[in-house]
Amino acid sequence: MDNNKRPETMERITTLELANAFIEEQVKAVREQVGDKKVLLALSGGVDSSVVAALLIKAIGKQLYCVHVNHGLMRKGESEQVIEVFGKELDANLIYIDATDRFLDLLAGEADPEKKRKIIGGEFIKVFDEEAAKLEGMDFLAQGTIYPDILESHGVKAHHNVGGLPEDMKMELVEPVKLLYKDEVRVVGEALGLPHAMVYRQPFPGPGLGVRCLGAITRDRLHALREADAILREEFDNCGLAGKVWQYFIAVPDFKSVGVRDDKRYEGWPAIIRAVNTVDAMTATIEEIPYEVLHKITDRITHEVEGINRVLLDLTPKPIGTIEWE
Ligand code: XMP
Repeated sequence: MDNNKRPETMERITTLELANAFIEEQVKAVREQVGDKKVLLALSGGVDSSVVAALLIKAIGKQLYCVHVNHGLMRKGESEQVIEVFGKELDANLIYIDATDRFLDLLAGEADPEKKRKIIGGEFIKVFDEEAAKLEGMDFLAQGTIYPDILESHGVKAHHNVGGLPEDMKMELVEPVKLLYKDEVRVVGEALGLPHAMVYRQPFPGPGLGVRCLGAITRDRLHALREADAILREEFDNCGLAGKVWQYFIAVPDFKSVGVRDDKRYEGWPAIIRAVNTVDAMTATIEEIPYEVLHKITDRITHEVEGINRVLLDLTPKPIGTIEWE
């Protein structure tokens, strides 16, 4: 039997009962596969790796070693949430690596989007590899592969993602959610008790804010982007758009315009709001944000975020614009 093929008889997991049955079955399967050996997992904080982590913690507890690499391009509060949920609440073996300086030093001065992606992906593998080498006796590598990854790439999780791991890591794979669709992974995540915000997290590119801090990344502009993005998320939460819009974020280009603040000339970057709806990310439409919400967001970002002096709204569907700016 091809164990990368979802059986036709497999019921779609839509309820807590079905999720619990799946969890029970996988806990048993993982214990059988792993025995008393150790398992390594790259925990990005995204939905898939988080659900796999929670499932494996339930199955094998401290035999799981989670490595969270903070590349310095996370959204505000995300690495902190990983530490809180997995390190504290679930009491996992969590190795947290703040590699911000390594990534930002390497990225300094690089404006080409493809080169930026390569730097981030390459350095991620290096950092992860170094940590894996320090942890002796890892026999298995767990991955948050889900069914669309198998259908799309016939291979290892997200070829274009930062989570792509070196091919010469000769470890047997543990992929407990590989036959699940995204909506099912979320139901399973909730059944495992993960926070709603983590399980319903919007898609976030592997290179993170690196693709939204346009041109050559600088620390001050990256900081401004992160703060503006946090305000956008807060205001979308407040007005109920958060549960409705598929993906929303801020991009900050690397040019300034003149403005006025406190009666003085104030040069700053523009913050660009992008909020889109889509089913498969191949095409996307624009969410209509009420003007009063836009005014509130503009007011907060321009007053609270150092370095931003304008807020713009991207009205471009995909095609012709991609979702990300890069
Ligand atoms: P574009 O910009 O191509 O994006 O319209 C389509 C969707 O893919 C996400 N995206 C990524 N996701 N790793 C990912 O896991 C990446 O490198 C990456 N780049 C773009 C993007 O956020 C959107 O949801």
